[in-house]
Amino acid sequence: NVTEARIGPDQGLDLERELRAHTPPLEQALEALWARHRDPDMPLGWIAVPEDTETARAALRYREANPWVTDVVVLGIGGSALGAQAVHAALGDRRVALHFVDNVEPEPVLHLLGSLNPRTTLVNVISKSGTTAETMAAFLVFRKWLEDALGAEWRRHVAVTTDPKKGVLRPYAARHGLTAFSIPPTVGGRFSVLTPVGLVPLAFAGVDLEGLLAGARKANETAAAPVAENLPAQTALVQYLYYRRGKPISVLMPYSTRMRLVPDWFVQLHAESLGKAESKTGSRVHVGPTPLKAVGTTDQHAQVQLYREGPFDKLVVFVRLERPTTDLELPAVEGLEALDYLFGKRLFELLTAEAKATAHALAKARRPNYTIQLEQLDAYHLGWLLQHLMWQTAILGELLGVNAFDQPGVELGKQYTYALMGRAGFEALAEELKAEGVV
Ligand code: PA5
Repeated sequence: NVTEARIGPDQGLDLERELRAHTPPLEQALEALWARHRDPDMPLGWIAVPEDTETARAALRYREANPWVTDVVVLGIGGSALGAQAVHAALGDRRVALHFVDNVEPEPVLHLLGSLNPRTTLVNVISKSGTTAETMAAFLVFRKWLEDALGAEWRRHVAVTTDPKKGVLRPYAARHGLTAFSIPPTVGGRFSVLTPVGLVPLAFAGVDLEGLLAGARKANETAAAPVAENLPAQTALVQYLYYRRGKPISVLMPYSTRMRLVPDWFVQLHAESLGKAESKTGSRVHVGPTPLKAVGTTDQHAQVQLYREGPFDKLVVFVRLERPTTDLELPAVEGLEALDYLFGKRLFELLTAEAKATAHALAKARRPNYTIQLEQLDAYHLGWLLQHLMWQTAILGELLGVNAFDQPGVELGKQYTYALMGRAGFEALAEELKAEGVV
């Protein structure tokens, strides 16, 4: 069950030489991360999360205790939604439908409400901080909708996933006897997919939770290896070197429709973790690769023209499967002999050829790319990929010298929103917005 990435052809980067030259900073980065991963004051709890199999069991017990659920509505945004969305799209079994409300646009919210039966709907409100305006607003709407339909019974239809102590949701859940799951305080939102944030909804989606965690543990094993065999250290280095050498854009392009939401999760992971104004020592740096989403083969017909002939500013990472879980043979059709090169071939063969052809076409045009190959798309390999990318992000943060675990740049927008919405304590900001003509 070797999950591997092949980096190459070298496209201007002598990986072995670079690895030798950068072994000391990579070792330092790994040591810094591993040494602090159980420190209750450090945001590195995500490293140990895959070892916690009890949370997965609790999520499964919760599903079994509630066989009446046909629909789960996840109220959460950013790190509290994107991971579960990505895994659900890839592996969800659809017996229970999952819906994600991660925006506050009224029309889709009303549309969803109109399509659900409150008697068989479970609302899982997920917010680490327990304060995010979008999630709280959605909770107000869905809680009332449940209460209007079910009276006091609404309580059985809500599960809260939040910090064990902070935020408004925890005491509210306690007061009403709601089912509540805890997000470990040392795990930040975008690193939380394998905590109850992802595991509770994914249990309802029929995903093999233990498989996900086992794959993530495998990624941890690799991340503990010496630099020469340490894949996340190597991919972080490749990302770092290209970023520093005029390739500020990092594309993630799985060749799989089922994996189409993995890049959305990755985009948030890299963007919020690495896009920083200040270094850890306080100097102004304004760094961060710009992550970009693409899906093969779809985006061959949308973005690849730009990748191959546009600015020399991208590093493209493909994710390719070695085998499908099921396949289709292409039938011969009389009268369509011009297509005979396809007759008798399989769809997966074409998909693989497309991926290889695109990678090679980019390489020929001196566009750096590498491919992560997964044996197949299952919980184990997806769990591995998610944890691998979390490691890559954390190591890249160390190489760039930034704190990958905060997001100060998101704050001002949140505060302006509070001011615009009249939240107490934000009066001065409201005045400022008025003076500046925003209202
Ligand atoms: O990665 C992060 O920390 C953010 O994207 C959060 O997940 C997002 O802002 C939602 O926050 P919360 O879970 O506190 O509602």
